[in-house]
Amino acid sequence: MNEIIFKKANSPFTLIIFGASGSLARLKLFPAIYELAKENRMPAEYKIVGYARTPMTNEEFRSNFEKSIKKKEKHVDQKVLNQLLENLFYVAGQYDQEDDYINFRKELKKIEKTRNRVRIAYFSVPPMAFKSIFKNLGIVNFNTKKTPLRLVIEKPFGYDLRSAKKLQKILKKYFESEQIYLLDHYLGKEAVSNLLSLRYANPILTTLMDKKYVSNIQIFGLEKSGIEGRSNYFDHVGIIRDMVQSHLLQILTYLTMYLPEQETDEAIHHEKARVLDSIRIKNIKTDVVRGQYKKYLDEPGIPKDSQTETFAALKLEMKHPLWRGVPIYMMAGKALKQKWTAVVIEFKPRKPQKNRKNLPPNRILIQLQPYEKIELSLLTKLGGKTFDFHELTTGRPIYCSGDCLTEHGRLLLDIIAGDRGLFLNFEEIFAAWVVTDPIQKMCSKKQKRCKDLLIYDEDSLGPKAADDLIENDGFSWFYSLPKNDKSNL
Ligand code: BG6
Repeated sequence: MNEIIFKKANSPFTLIIFGASGSLARLKLFPAIYELAKENRMPAEYKIVGYARTPMTNEEFRSNFEKSIKKKEKHVDQKVLNQLLENLFYVAGQYDQEDDYINFRKELKKIEKTRNRVRIAYFSVPPMAFKSIFKNLGIVNFNTKKTPLRLVIEKPFGYDLRSAKKLQKILKKYFESEQIYLLDHYLGKEAVSNLLSLRYANPILTTLMDKKYVSNIQIFGLEKSGIEGRSNYFDHVGIIRDMVQSHLLQILTYLTMYLPEQETDEAIHHEKARVLDSIRIKNIKTDVVRGQYKKYLDEPGIPKDSQTETFAALKLEMKHPLWRGVPIYMMAGKALKQKWTAVVIEFKPRKPQKNRKNLPPNRILIQLQPYEKIELSLLTKLGGKTFDFHELTTGRPIYCSGDCLTEHGRLLLDIIAGDRGLFLNFEEIFAAWVVTDPIQKMCSKKQKRCKDLLIYDEDSLGPKAADDLIENDGFSWFYSLPKNDKSNL
């Protein structure tokens, strides 16, 4: 057995959180920081400084932080938490006011004991706010030779290809590409990295995973929760920008890219971008289903005439040499029956099966959430002379037994260490926008009600049209929702 290496932050750092009063910080970032502290992965000297428009004192910020940890964690180590709180600070300011950044820089100097440290600016704000912050950080010179700034930018990067390119231009004016960490938290999930590792470690998968054997691939990103109070962000982006353009397409790249001989970051990014470049939606009208859950318009902060989709089912095609002709189906949505993130690979039958009608296909299910599981479905003959088969499913849950951290914790350690391997590059992001941009043109904002936007019940599996999308091709969605799993319900 190899010795497990536990990553730890070794250099002093300052983590500036833009949008520190918002839900992303509360739901994902604060618990990750606490996790690192609890697991003793923090260096002796660090500071966490929140910045947002909401006026707040340091004490109020600390109290909010504490509340969010106590809400999420069953057993809180108060000693660890208290130590953490002492290192927390807050500065209020506007995102577009240069003077506020000048003041912020002064405050930061007072908070940081030493200059020689890693300084990280974490963008926990909706994409609309990126531009002003990039500019002001550049103008006000937050980025110095002695304390270069690392920028961590959560997806979605931009709103479409055009805006993403504009943002990149502004960034390039003030920062070097090595300073930029484009974050999709799915890449920090052990289960997602495992998709690639599984393919490297198991030649059986490498042999079977191509157009010769695979009939279709299905990727699910289903969620039980609604928009969790994030109306401002979500109504602006919708599920396609929120989940498909980033998380689900990233899962697809790990699953389908050529495996480069040399597992370098460059080679992997290159192959991922090749996959993304090869994906298209052939017919926007027939290959996309958009839905909105019934009570979406009643959510606080959502305009009564909102046309934003909270559900999407899509059929994609790949021109990639390994996958030409294999349909890829994706489904993502809010307020559905269960939280379920999974990949299903269905295999072609050996030859037209005369006596063996209606047999289910061989299938590999890789479940990523609520827990990791891999299952292989085979067919075995029932006893006797008849050609009757039944499905034999073999597989089991996988429990992390190495260096197991939640995604934001793991990615934070990489950022502090200056490791950009699990972050996106601009090429990948642009290619992903090229895939999803045409969908956004389906229904113009001027239309009173988008005809294509189908209303679905909460706790369902989305609109019926999603079933038709895949059934018209002779396949069906393979749901294998975990039973009685309360972890995320
Ligand atoms: C985020 C989206 O990126 O991912 C959220 O903005 C979504 O809307 C979340 O709920 C899902 O992440 P996870 O890790 O819970 O599957």
